[in-house]
Amino acid sequence: MEIRAAIPEDAAAACQVIRRSITELCVADHRNDEAILMRWLDNKTPEVVASWIGRPDNSLFVAVEANRMLAVGSVTDAGEINVNYVSPDARFRGVSRALLGALEARAAERGNTRCTLTSTETARRFYLARGYVETGPPVGIFGTSSAYPMSKILGSACP
Ligand SMILES: CC(C)(COP(=O)(O)OP(=O)(O)OC[C@H]1O[C@@H](n2cnc3c(N)ncnc32)[C@H](O)[C@@H]1OP(=O)(O)O)[C@@H](O)C(=O)NCCC(=O)NCCS
Repeated sequence: MEIRAAIPEDAAAACQVIRRSITELCVADHRNDEAILMRWLDNKTPEVVASWIGRPDNSLFVAVEANRMLAVGSVTDAGEINVNYVSPDARFRGVSRALLGALEARAAERGNTRCTLTSTETARRFYLARGYVETGPPVGIFGTSSAYPMSKILGSACP
């Protein structure tokens, strides 16, 4: 597996990974509620993903293996991890752990001492195990009942 900066040609495959990850893996969040899924997926188009790749204040990385896209993640220059989705075909193989490490390293390179994110219910345990702490009460996003604001001091110990 290789983690590298996304290029514009990655947009369609990255978009597909993001959409499948939301639809197939985040059931604890959307509970297969069509209205929630529609809102969540609304801006997940190849064009919008291409715009994320092109944002000068954002680093979007992809994890790829033998030309298959396994995961997509991004972090702003202010240290906010705003995308982190793994393909259902690559779950529980350590891909997100490695991608999160790359995102945190990029945030540190950009001068941040802390990363922030808003976790799904699905990923909550994953982030807690990676050293993130909850920074406030759950918030609702896209009509889901629980999204968890979290942060981590970079360089702090985690398993
Ligand atoms: C939760 C999620 C983010 C983890 O990504 P992943 O690539 O599957 O994770 P990794 O393989 O790197 O690590 C997975 C964790 O699952 C554990 N795990 C491994 N195999 C497992 C299994 N068969 N069943 C349950 N957990 C398992 C690992 O022990 C590890 O946990 P730990 O670090 O606390 O020990 C991902 O599976 C997921 O569901 N993503 C959906 C999209 C999402 O919610 N993204 C976050 C947006 S904020």
